[in-house]
Amino acid sequence: MKTYENLLTEKKEGILTIVVNRPDKLNALNKKTIAEIGEAVAEGNNDPEVSGIIITGAGEKAFVAGADISEFSSYSEQEAAALSRHGVEVFFSIERSAKPIIAAVNGFALGGGCELAMACHMRIASETAKFGQPEVNLGLLPGYSGTQRLVQLIGKAKALEYLMTADMIPAVEAHRLGLANYVVPAAEVISKSTEILKKIATKAPLAVAAVIRSVNSHFAYNEDGFETEIKEFGKSFVTEDFKEGSAAFLEKRKAEFRGK
Ligand code: COA
Repeated sequence: MKTYENLLTEKKEGILTIVVNRPDKLNALNKKTIAEIGEAVAEGNNDPEVSGIIITGAGEKAFVAGADISEFSSYSEQEAAALSRHGVEVFFSIERSAKPIIAAVNGFALGGGCELAMACHMRIASETAKFGQPEVNLGLLPGYSGTQRLVQLIGKAKALEYLMTADMIPAVEAHRLGLANYVVPAAEVISKSTEILKKIATKAPLAVAAVIRSVNSHFAYNEDGFETEIKEFGKSFVTEDFKEGSAAFLEKRKAEFRGK
């Protein structure tokens, strides 16, 4: 694995854990950190030993407390839009990852942190986690797709409420709204994420990737998700994994998938 300035990475039993590591700044995302997250996710996707990825934050207080506000002051309109576009692209690379990515939300997930968590395929929240998009407090709006993914995850009415009031969303409420998949004690966010990724790792990897593509297609303005599913279903029939999966079922044994 590469070494990163603002991330720690660990590869264990097929799972790559990416830790945003700026605890004295509550893991705030400066430009460099966002770029590094993109690189680490690409590294995980290109590594045949990796079957799933966890993104979390260093320390006990924060997942990520937002974009790094200290970097903001001197940007022109064009520079700010370019910053936003870069974040949007990196977060798309997470959402479009062929391998499952879980956000282990161990504390504050505010602003860019909430957006990072929402770009992941699932969110496991600690009981102490707090989500939120507080940008209007700063005279801003979310810039890394928060206005889009919060609507996708919790619906328009509640998304507009939280985006306009800047209220934080406690873990239990995030779970009730469908923003968090599970709420667990702080000490269990990684183990719960690992448990889910290990279960997915027993399934056919190409089929898992096809599920991700098809679900993403539902939200792509220029795609028809139903058509994407039809195409992916057709393609799945000519994979070696489908032959293995159906043979294993008929022979009453466990399938050995190879991602081919
Ligand atoms: N960008 C840059 N630095 C940040 C940051 C951010 N988004 N969030 C926290 N930090 C820094 C603080 O400036 C502070 O640094 P310092 O010790 O050098 O002064 C350090 O992290 C600790 O934060 P602090 O505010 O002292 O912790 P707290 O427990 O009192 O409050 C929060 C925690 C999360 C409520 C508070 O830090 C906060 O509101 N952060 C900004 C959230 C936000 O608006 N995010 C959206 C950004 S677009």
